[in-house]
Amino acid sequence: MNSKYIYLHTIGCQMNVYDSEQIAIRLAASGYEQTASMTQADLIIVNTCTVRAKAEQKAFSLLGRLARMKRDKKRLIIAVGGCVAQQEGEKILDRMSAVDLVFGTQAIDRLPHLIQQVETRRCRIVDVEMNENPQIPESHVESRDERETSKFVTIMRGCDNHCTYCVVPFVRGRETSRRPESILREIHSLVKSGVREITLLGQNVNSYGKNQNLCTFPELLTMINGVEGILRIRFTTSHPKDLGSDLIAAFRNLDNVCPHIHLPVQSGSNRVLKRMNRQYTREQYLDKVMKLRDTCPQIAITSDIIVGFPGESQADFDQTLQLLKTVEFDGLFAFQYSDRPQAPSVKLPDKLPETIIRKRLQIVLELQEKFTKCKNEALVGSTLLVLTDGLSKKQVSDQPVENGQDVQWTGRTATNKIVNFYVDNPAIDSQNLTGKMVGVRIEKGFSHSLLGRVINVEPSTGGLKGVKNYAA
Ligand code: 5AD
Ligand code: SF4
Repeated sequence: MNSKYIYLHTIGCQMNVYDSEQIAIRLAASGYEQTASMTQADLIIVNTCTVRAKAEQKAFSLLGRLARMKRDKKRLIIAVGGCVAQQEGEKILDRMSAVDLVFGTQAIDRLPHLIQQVETRRCRIVDVEMNENPQIPESHVESRDERETSKFVTIMRGCDNHCTYCVVPFVRGRETSRRPESILREIHSLVKSGVREITLLGQNVNSYGKNQNLCTFPELLTMINGVEGILRIRFTTSHPKDLGSDLIAAFRNLDNVCPHIHLPVQSGSNRVLKRMNRQYTREQYLDKVMKLRDTCPQIAITSDIIVGFPGESQADFDQTLQLLKTVEFDGLFAFQYSDRPQAPSVKLPDKLPETIIRKRLQIVLELQEKFTKCKNEALVGSTLLVLTDGLSKKQVSDQPVENGQDVQWTGRTATNKIVNFYVDNPAIDSQNLTGKMVGVRIEKGFSHSLLGRVINVEPSTGGLKGVKNYAA
């Protein structure tokens, strides 16, 4: 069979990255080989995100470019999947005449059939059916030659919370957890293909299993912690209201669970948290942060903030700044509030002018940058365990490397900090570090990364089984 080529463009969160992989695996079975070149492609799939307005604009501007490309290549098939597809459905076909297929977030299993229909009948199709009791599609594991160190594993889909700014419950549907046996099966085959770190994905992993009477999330973590060959377990995202003492204890009791939690706070003001329907107070959030740090002193805590939520006063914003100063997060994603068509906050009064929102975002980013840099600088002189992802993509120009020590690798600490490092020890085989756990002596701390030199490879300090942050 002649190979057909698929170009996959993914916008948005890790869940979309995972879905794109699943799409690629399914379409490989229908004869589609992945290409990195848009012009070579017979089929282009744009996997979209609509969580913020900017992501949606990105999708439409790419589709505009693709439409122009299709003028010279009539047989090119253009498909739109993911959250914008789910949200807009048929409207995408009306707006973009070049698009052949729109498929929603629950249509991945039907995709090969849908593409075949488009190929044979040259018709335009929309499949955005949303099931009240969705089945999670069985995950497929790719057989690969190329070794990958770290992979995502989706453990649940959808969300039953209704944070008022959020479109996710409308485009991803009801919260549904995957059965533990299915998750473990996938993890076992990933380990067999050389994966050493997995990140469990869900909109709100802390409530895993609850509405289906499966095991709890900490119980699932315990099972995964027992899988031979897994060195690091991460998960995202955690909702503060569902973070219980059993999960906090997992950071101490399960040796492969990484000491890092992403715990979006969104705002430091109780008035705003209430209007966001977050179901916790600032005090409850701070109490959980304290418990996490008491239980696991080395834990890194990162968070999300939305600035400029409708009605956010200067006093509310000051409360957010105060919370940032109290917690000193290890990292922060800050976003300008944007209206999403289906989210309830669209209807809230007192929208803030863009100029104020932008200014507040700048203040938050500048404040956080100080904390991140300071925390990274405090690590200079320590030797951290780093799981190597591969060669660093850019020879980092703002991180001068002296005397030709320019073989730069990149990886992450257990606390999820990016470390670029070089090898200047002839005893260390610098050809073969991908997937290896290495001890790196930190020499510089920047705002978004650390720089150091490798000291040893796969140190047998007990840190290899387990995720201990520090190497001996
Ligand atoms: N406007 C701005 N930020 C948003 N987020 C979700 N919805 C919106 C919105 N309407 C942010 C939240 C969430 C992250 C994934 O995106 O901070 O945690
Ligand atoms: Fe959106 Fe809230 Fe669900 Fe997160 S928990 S996906 S912010 S509704």
